[in-house]
Amino acid sequence: MHRSPAAMVTKPAVDPNIEIRTPRDPNTLSNYHNYVTRHTSVDFEIDFERKRLAGKVVLKMESLTDESVGVVLDASFLDISDVKVNGQAAKFNVGDRLEPYGNPLNITLPSEVPKGKIIDIEIAVATTDKCTALQWLTPAQTSNKKYPYMFSQCQAIHARSVFPCQDTPDVKSTFSFALRSPLPVLASGLPTGATDYQPPKKDGGSGTLKYTFEQHVAITSYLFAVASGDIASASIGPRSTVWSGPEELLDCQRELEGEIEPFMKAVESIVKPSYQWTQYNVLILPPSFPYGGMENPVWTYATPSIISGDKQNIDVIAHELSHSWSGNLVSAASWEHFWLNEGWTMYLERRIQAAIHGEEHRHFSAIIGWKALEESIKQYGEDHEYTKLIVDLKGKDPDDAFSSIPYEKGFHALYQFELLLGKDKWDSFIPHYFDTFKFKSVDSYDFKSCLTDFFAKDAEANSKLENFDWDKLFYAPGFPPKPDFDQTMVKSCYALADKWQHLISANSSNDFKPHASDIKGWVANQSVVFLERIQSFADKFSPEQIHLLGETYGYTQTQNIEVLSRFLSAGLMAKAPETYQPSADLVGRIGRMKFVRPMYRLLEKADRDLAVRTFEKNRDFYHPICRQMVEKDLFGGGAGK
Ligand code: BES
Ligand code: ZN
Repeated sequence: MHRSPAAMVTKPAVDPNIEIRTPRDPNTLSNYHNYVTRHTSVDFEIDFERKRLAGKVVLKMESLTDESVGVVLDASFLDISDVKVNGQAAKFNVGDRLEPYGNPLNITLPSEVPKGKIIDIEIAVATTDKCTALQWLTPAQTSNKKYPYMFSQCQAIHARSVFPCQDTPDVKSTFSFALRSPLPVLASGLPTGATDYQPPKKDGGSGTLKYTFEQHVAITSYLFAVASGDIASASIGPRSTVWSGPEELLDCQRELEGEIEPFMKAVESIVKPSYQWTQYNVLILPPSFPYGGMENPVWTYATPSIISGDKQNIDVIAHELSHSWSGNLVSAASWEHFWLNEGWTMYLERRIQAAIHGEEHRHFSAIIGWKALEESIKQYGEDHEYTKLIVDLKGKDPDDAFSSIPYEKGFHALYQFELLLGKDKWDSFIPHYFDTFKFKSVDSYDFKSCLTDFFAKDAEANSKLENFDWDKLFYAPGFPPKPDFDQTMVKSCYALADKWQHLISANSSNDFKPHASDIKGWVANQSVVFLERIQSFADKFSPEQIHLLGETYGYTQTQNIEVLSRFLSAGLMAKAPETYQPSADLVGRIGRMKFVRPMYRLLEKADRDLAVRTFEKNRDFYHPICRQMVEKDLFGGGAGK
């Protein structure tokens, strides 16, 4: 059996009395092989005035050893004022900062804790203005400009900047949340009420309520989530609601109503067990939300850019819903095996598409994904460590390794087993995998042994798997083998792109006259495929030809950001000045990194001054993670999605 290169690494001890070893996850400073968190209670005041969470967290930790060692937790930019162990004051110190992991919080235990015994560690803590997980919006930064807003984004290693914890996906804990706020609150548990009204303080402000939530299914730290603001809710299905600013609520409801339950039924027909989280709700965030979606349990967080009025971007929801199984129920044990989360999720998302729209749509999505994979591999270089399925992240920041590679290479890892074993056999394995590892964290070697054990008695499948090159799958950099995709949906996109290619090559005679009807009947993603083809020769376009392209097909006015961003990117590649300001406007309007990062890179090449000015102007608009990544892209470091 292979072991991860990170297995059992000994790190320099921060305190000589405290042993720090990281069994599987190199991106945590915690000694989670000595103690493991079983339950986490957070009790925070959401303080909009001081832009901080303040209160206490109680970790119920089980000792895994009879050795007399202290507890080391992850912490990052936190203000820690007190630690109690089983109700008694305990000695603690915050170790030196170790980039990018933060500071170890070393806690000395008053007495030995025998193996199997549970201790309560209570920590008084407040977040600081350097917190990387939280974004605090002033009323002026929200859509109705009336109230402040705050939300968290903890994946990958930002939970440690909210509260001290074992910030590793190799540990799962149940959660209780008590969050006091003047505005409605959501968290990643089931709501249990809003109680204990406190009137406004004498010097003004608003009264507050204590909102409570329980998460009975053990979750990883990165799934901790909280949001508070002027939000309202509407039903979108029998077990689903959508939440957004009151002014946007009807549009959000129209976009998602009736869509969720068929998605859930589709996944439940492929995997086992059934949906474990009781409700599936969606929170539509302000435009600075840095991702398309985030699979926080009970409430998926999503960018408002999916509310395009045409239901053409709700595949993001199919994706986040799929994480309810791949990622949230069965979790990658470290960011080195992130493909197990995202690859499986792409696989399930595409199975939903096949179930609802037909098999050709699954292939269509995979074709778009292959293009994203090409871009990411080009960005890093074909031999780069981060182009492998299993990546070495020792000493590295998982955010820097984030790209389409774990998504698409991960998808192809699974899809090739579907092709190798045949769909029926592969489909019999899928429920077995999820049922075997539910509530657990797994690495790629667990996946391998689960698959090979499952088919051990099936001579035909067994021999195929024995001849399979696992080392190549896990460790070869660059592209996976490319399967044949069904071309039904893309043929007309490629044909139209070819016509444009002829049109712009000066020395070819041509009778092609672009007309709006060229794209009649297309879904938005067909324009995406067409424009991505155009991008491969966009530098040959004149500014006038870019103008013609945008005007003919209405791309300059489209509400669909997937289409608009591709069109503007083509314009930037062609160095067409009329696309510069609209590109700058786009990155000032939406903070989703998928659009913001590539657009800044292109804008920088076309007009560095405008790129830098635009970033400075929008610095406060971006979530801290996005701000940091764009800063790296513009002023040095990093590559990515
Ligand atoms: N879990 C991811 C988002 C994420 C990954 C946040 C790593 C932080 C670190 C989420 O499920 C995701 O994949 N979102 C995609 C959606 C898309 C693939 C449909 C996104 O944001 O683009
Ligand atoms: Zn995902």
